[in-house]
Amino acid sequence: MSIISKDISKAIELLNNDELVAIPTETVYGLAGNIFSENAVKSIFKTKKRPSFNPLIVHIASKNRLSNIVSYIPIKAQLLADAFWPGPITLVLPKKEIIPDLITSGKPTVAVRVPNHPITLQLLNQLEFPLAAPSANPFSNISPTKPEHVENYFKHDIKMVLDGGPCKRGIESTIIGFEKDEPIIYRLGSTPIEEIERVIGKILIKNKEEISPKAPGMLERHYAPKTKTILTDDLTKSIKFHSDKRIGLLIFNDILNDDNIQFKVVLSEASNLYEAASKLYDALHQLDEQELDIIIAEKLPNYGLGKSINDRLSRATKC
Ligand code: TXA
Ligand code: MG
Repeated sequence: MSIISKDISKAIELLNNDELVAIPTETVYGLAGNIFSENAVKSIFKTKKRPSFNPLIVHIASKNRLSNIVSYIPIKAQLLADAFWPGPITLVLPKKEIIPDLITSGKPTVAVRVPNHPITLQLLNQLEFPLAAPSANPFSNISPTKPEHVENYFKHDIKMVLDGGPCKRGIESTIIGFEKDEPIIYRLGSTPIEEIERVIGKILIKNKEEISPKAPGMLERHYAPKTKTILTDDLTKSIKFHSDKRIGLLIFNDILNDDNIQFKVVLSEASNLYEAASKLYDALHQLDEQELDIIIAEKLPNYGLGKSINDRLSRATKC
């Protein structure tokens, strides 16, 4: 029997009983549990096989609740919350004492966001606690953007995926921390840098720390298909080089036909980066199911969401 359901009251009952429910957000599906339940939080780490040093994001119903979670809000953090919440920005700020160390992996800071999905906002408004929710995929696998992706990963481990349809944005939130009150991007994501800079001015990016990463989104290999995957800016050359293999192609817009290609996914025929982001993970899931020898992914234009997509593709293709 399918574990995918639209029954919010069932989700509330499970969450009140320390169980996990996969929830829809505008970015990717999350594997959610009560932040104050030690059992729920431990089973998030266990179910995902996530190392305990990787902290979780706390999801709240509205920006008014931010001050329940964090002890200090820099001016630029408040500007970002006002401009983008509900939406795909996560703020990393000093935590209040009530936030369990298990959530933050012992760090003095906590990551918080207000997700922009009507069903999950309804759910959060009816719960008496915020939800911890990492992306609902086993550690380092491709993130889920459809309820079926979560079901395929976890049908034996959790009782319910709350069905909110396909995720509209399709890649994770942009994570922003603060060092001496100045904002720094720790993970590129669904909110493009250009939009952020319009609100708070120039922002630094620090998303390449490989040792003791500030965010596992910084880990070199992440978001990865099982099939060998390469990233290229010269499709014709790469296809020729691998012409003895069963090739799958992940391509921005449809300009290429080649007999060597067994399966092809076009991210946006209209060359729209938002459309491309929303389709990216589903495309990787589809390609990974085709029993190909190799997936060849095309680099996208390196601005706006293209930068975030290229970041995910380069981590998905690291050996
Ligand atoms: O869009 C999203 O952010 C999705 C949806 C479900 O909300 N969630 C998500 O969670 O991507 P996850 O766990 O896959 O990624 C959370 C990231 C991790 O890279 C983690 O290290 C970082 O947030 N993070 C959490 N707390 C942190 C902290 N205190 N300092 C720095 N990074 C933190
Ligand atoms: Mg993740």
